[in-house]
Amino acid sequence: MFYFGVDYYPEHWPEERWPEDARLMAEAGFNVVRLAEFAWSRMEPKQGQYDFDWLDRAIDILTSHDIRVVLGTPTASPPPWLMARHPDSFRVREDGQRVTFGNRREYCPNNLVYREYTHRIVTRMAEHYADHPAVIGWQIDNEFGDRCYCPVCARAFQDWLRRRYGSLDELNEKWGTIFWSHVYTDWDQIPLPLETGGSPNPGLALDFFRFSSDSYVAYQQMQVDILREKCPEHFVTHNFHGFHYEGLNYFDLARDLDFVAWDNYQRTGWLLQAQVDPSYAALAHDAMRGLKRQNFWVMEQQAGQGGWEMVSVAPRPGELRLWAYQAIAHGADAVLFFRWRTARFGTEQYWHGLLDHDGHAGRRYQEIKRMGAEIKTIGERLVGSSVKPSVAMILSYDSRFAFQIQANNPGFSYPNHFHQVYRALHRRHVLVDVVAPTADLSSYQLVVAPALHVLPDAVAGNLKRFVAAGGVLVVTPRSGVKDEANAVVNQRLPGLLAELCGVEVEEYDSLGADMYNEVEFTLPELASHSPVAAKVWCDVLQPHGTTAIARYTQDYYAGKPAITLNRFGQGQVVYVGTVGDARLYEALVGWLLNLAGVQEILAVPRGVEVTERWQGDRLLFVLNHAEREQEVTLDGRYVDLLDGSAVLEGRAAVAPRDVLILLDEENAND
Ligand code: GLA
Ligand code: ZN
Repeated sequence: MFYFGVDYYPEHWPEERWPEDARLMAEAGFNVVRLAEFAWSRMEPKQGQYDFDWLDRAIDILTSHDIRVVLGTPTASPPPWLMARHPDSFRVREDGQRVTFGNRREYCPNNLVYREYTHRIVTRMAEHYADHPAVIGWQIDNEFGDRCYCPVCARAFQDWLRRRYGSLDELNEKWGTIFWSHVYTDWDQIPLPLETGGSPNPGLALDFFRFSSDSYVAYQQMQVDILREKCPEHFVTHNFHGFHYEGLNYFDLARDLDFVAWDNYQRTGWLLQAQVDPSYAALAHDAMRGLKRQNFWVMEQQAGQGGWEMVSVAPRPGELRLWAYQAIAHGADAVLFFRWRTARFGTEQYWHGLLDHDGHAGRRYQEIKRMGAEIKTIGERLVGSSVKPSVAMILSYDSRFAFQIQANNPGFSYPNHFHQVYRALHRRHVLVDVVAPTADLSSYQLVVAPALHVLPDAVAGNLKRFVAAGGVLVVTPRSGVKDEANAVVNQRLPGLLAELCGVEVEEYDSLGADMYNEVEFTLPELASHSPVAAKVWCDVLQPHGTTAIARYTQDYYAGKPAITLNRFGQGQVVYVGTVGDARLYEALVGWLLNLAGVQEILAVPRGVEVTERWQGDRLLFVLNHAEREQEVTLDGRYVDLLDGSAVLEGRAAVAPRDVLILLDEENAND
C-alpha cells in the first residue's frame, strides 16, 4: 500500500471535533496518520500514571475510516514534572549554559535518569500498542540533534576516547597535544570543546562531534531495542532533518532503522523567497534515500505556510502537490503532510496545516485532496519501484564535521559546495545517489567526491578501485588534507589521492571576498565556456603525467593548471582545484556526463525536473516547477497515468506547477 497521510494532534482539539477530522482525512484519501510524538504529558500526566485512553479513542475514530497509525515516541519533549525533578537532565550548550524549560529537545542523551524515564514511557507505549490492529510502526523521538556539553557527557566522552585510543600515549600522539602543552596524563583532564576553552585542538573537536553523534545513535538504539522486542510486527523509523542538518552522522543513525523518514519544508518563516530552487529538496531526497540506499518516507511534508515568529511566503497554488510528487519522484514510498490543522497556540501557531486555525478546509486541503484521489489510482504502481542512478556523490560526515571546526575560508561551506555541484547535475536531468564514502561504487559511471577533507585509507582504496575498474571520478579542493584524527597529512596534497589524481598541489591560495581569479579551459570541448570565475580557494597544481584542462589567468599563478584530467587503470579522474560558481560546474558537468557515458533522462526546458522509477515498468516523472506552462518532447510512447490512460508521444504540455507521471510503453509489463 502506498501510504498517504498527515501528522495529527488530536490532543490539541476538543474530542467532539475528532470525528469530523477523520471524515475529512478519509475524504482527502489519507490512509495513515502520525500521532503522539509530543504527547508525553498527556500519556504520563504524573510520574508513573499512564493514560492511553484518549489516544485509544482517537485511534478508534481513525480506524473507523480505515486510517492506519504511526506512533511517535514522545521523548523529544519531556513533561515539566520530569525536568523540574531532574534538572541535571537538561542539556548544556556549547557556551556552557544549561538550557532551561520552555522549548523542546532540551534533554541530554547520555543522562542516565532521562534514559530511565525514556525506557519506561517507550516500554509502556510499546506494550499498550503492540497488538493494536491500526498501528503499523513507530517514529522514534523527533529530529534528533543538538550537542550536549554537560558533565555527564564530559565523562562519557572520556570513556569513548579510552575505547577509541586505548592509551593516552596514542591519543596524545594522534591529536598532537604537544602543541601548546596539552599533553594529557589522565583521561579526566580531557575537556569538552566548550566555547570558553577557545578554538580547540581539531582532533579533540572532531572526536567530540563523532561522540555526540554516537550518543544519539545509542539513545535511539535503546528505543529501537524496546520496540523490536515488544512490537516485532511494526516498523521503526525516525524523522531526519534532510541534507542541511549538520550535527549527526546520518549514515550511523539510519543503520538500525527499517527505513529513513524525513521532514521536507521548502518555504519557511526563516527564508522568505519568491522562487524556490527545486534542487534543494531534490538533493535532500537523494541524500535521505542514500542513507540506506533504499526508498524512504516523508514524515512531514509542507502543508502550508511555515513559521514560528515569522510567517513564510504562502505556497503558491500547485506547489504543495508538486513538492509532494517531487518526493515520490525521488523515491518516497509514503508522504504525510505536516500538519493537519493549524495550531491556535504554542510556538508553532504560524506553522500552517492543511486546515486553517478555525478548521476551515480551503485551498490547501482541496489541492491535496485532488492528489489523494490520484494516489488511489497510481499508488500500487509506485510501491516497490525504485530510483536507479548511474551518478553518485559522496557525503562524508567526518569531512563535514571537520569543516565545522575549521571552515578554511569564510566563503566556504561544505554543504553549499556539495549543493553547487549537485545543482549542476540536477539541471542536466541525471539521477544522483548520495552515498557514504565506503559505499560500493561499482554500479556508477560517474562519482563526485566534493571536498573529501578527512580521508581514511579505506576510502582512498574504495575510490581507487572504482576508477581502476573504469569509473570517472571528480575530486574538488581540500580533499585528502586530513587524517582520521583531523591532523594534516604528512604528504604532498591531495595526500592519499595524489597518485590517483596524478597531481600535486604545489601551493594554495585562500581568497578574500573581494578577490577574484579566473579559469580558462584549455581543452577544446570546454573552451567555449571560458573564462569562468575562480573563488574562495585556488589550488596551484603540478601535474604528474596528467593533462591540464584549465589554467588560472590572474595573479602570480597565472598560467598554472587549475583543473586536471588523469587516466588511472580503466578510468579517469578530474581534479578541480578551485571553487567556482554555477557556470564552472555546469560547464564541467556537461562534459563529464559525456566522458562517463551518462545519458540525461530527457532534454527538457529549465524549470522542468525529470526523474524515473523502475520496477520492470519504467515510470517517468515530469515536474514543471515554473509558473508558466512548458512543453517537453517525449522520446517514445507513454501512458499518462494521472490523466486516465491517454497516450502521449512527441510534444506534451505541462501546466504551471503540474506534474506528468508517465508509463513508458516500451518498458511496461502490461
Ligand atoms: C519539524 C518538526 C515538527 C515541526 C516542524 C515545523 O520538522 O519535526 O515537529 O516543528 O518542524 O517547525
Ligand atoms: Zn550531556
